[in-house]
Amino acid sequence: MASIRFAGVRVAYPGAARPAVDGVTLAIPSACLAVLLGPSGCGKTTLLRTINRLQPIDGGRIEIDGRDTAGLDPIALRRRIGYVIQAVGLFPHLTVAQNVAVVPNLLGWDSQRVSERVDTLLAQVSLDPQSFRDRYPSQLSGGQQQRVGIARALAAEPSILLMDEPFGSVDAIVRASLQKETLALQRRTGATILFVTHDVEEALSLADMLVVMRDGHFEQTGTPAEILTHPATPFVAELVDADDALRRLSVITLGELTASAARGTPLPEEPGTIPALDAGVSLRAALAVMLETGAPRVRVMHDGREAAVLDLDTLRNAVRR
Ligand SMILES: Nc1ncnc2c1ncn2[C@@H]1O[C@H](COP(=O)(O)OP(=O)(O)OP(=O)(O)O)[C@@H](O)[C@H]1O
Ligand SMILES: [Mg+2]
Repeated sequence: MASIRFAGVRVAYPGAARPAVDGVTLAIPSACLAVLLGPSGCGKTTLLRTINRLQPIDGGRIEIDGRDTAGLDPIALRRRIGYVIQAVGLFPHLTVAQNVAVVPNLLGWDSQRVSERVDTLLAQVSLDPQSFRDRYPSQLSGGQQQRVGIARALAAEPSILLMDEPFGSVDAIVRASLQKETLALQRRTGATILFVTHDVEEALSLADMLVVMRDGHFEQTGTPAEILTHPATPFVAELVDADDALRRLSVITLGELTASAARGTPLPEEPGTIPALDAGVSLRAALAVMLETGAPRVRVMHDGREAAVLDLDTLRNAVRR
């Protein structure tokens, strides 16, 4: 478990007209999947690398679990923080197993423990250990190499994982499955993840916290639903395509829509005749159920209990911004 806090963090590359990171402040709670979204050159990679001190800062401070990273040993810090870089960056002369084992070996784990860990991790990223352990990176597809990169970053059970456009070079299907695996891994390990992308769909589907970055500063921070429904600036609205109704339907969940609405609406029908959907279901999926069953409303269930009833009009109004 680890929280990350940026306080007025600034990075100015020598000779640059303006800072690449210009005084950003943000607290990322432990076990949060935060996504940095912004156009090329806005400072995402630079900011990510300040956390493990691969990038020195020129102002402000960064805390992990409340401790200023300036006072920590950078090498020890980097071993605790998994890092998946923009280009996969596997060692070409090492096998898959040797690549994954780099940090555990540095940490001096015994070979039995390293070997078991490698197999577990390969299985977790859907690579069969038997057939992949002893291959070299050049004998893998791009998507398989990225999976190995993720397994390697996870090897020493880091409490923080930095992922810089980790799925950049794979097709849409592999990308979707890697996204699912990332979410599952995050839920299972409780790691705090800072994930960089300039793919809006990816950002919206992964983020607990979405951070929109522009020219070295944070334009807006919030949940995907908050940002889609209340974009703070025209730049944000355009970037996330907030006017796309289908996109809002896909991202906003029943729970988010009904949280603010009145509870305990009396039910005229027998509850059994109204479809019951979990609060985590998207409005888009709820709409599909309404259209299929002809039901004008759905029951929104939270932890198995009815939290609200949602009708078509409320749903329609939510989609109009
Ligand atoms: N080592 C460096 N020296 C000087 N300027 C740099 C250096 N690295 C990056 N920059 C500049 O800092 C700015 C931010 O770069 P950064 O790599 O952080 O952007 P990014 O948001 O990750 O972009 P992308 O989406 O293309 O990866 C850019 O203008 C870039 O040209
Ligand atoms: Mg980058």
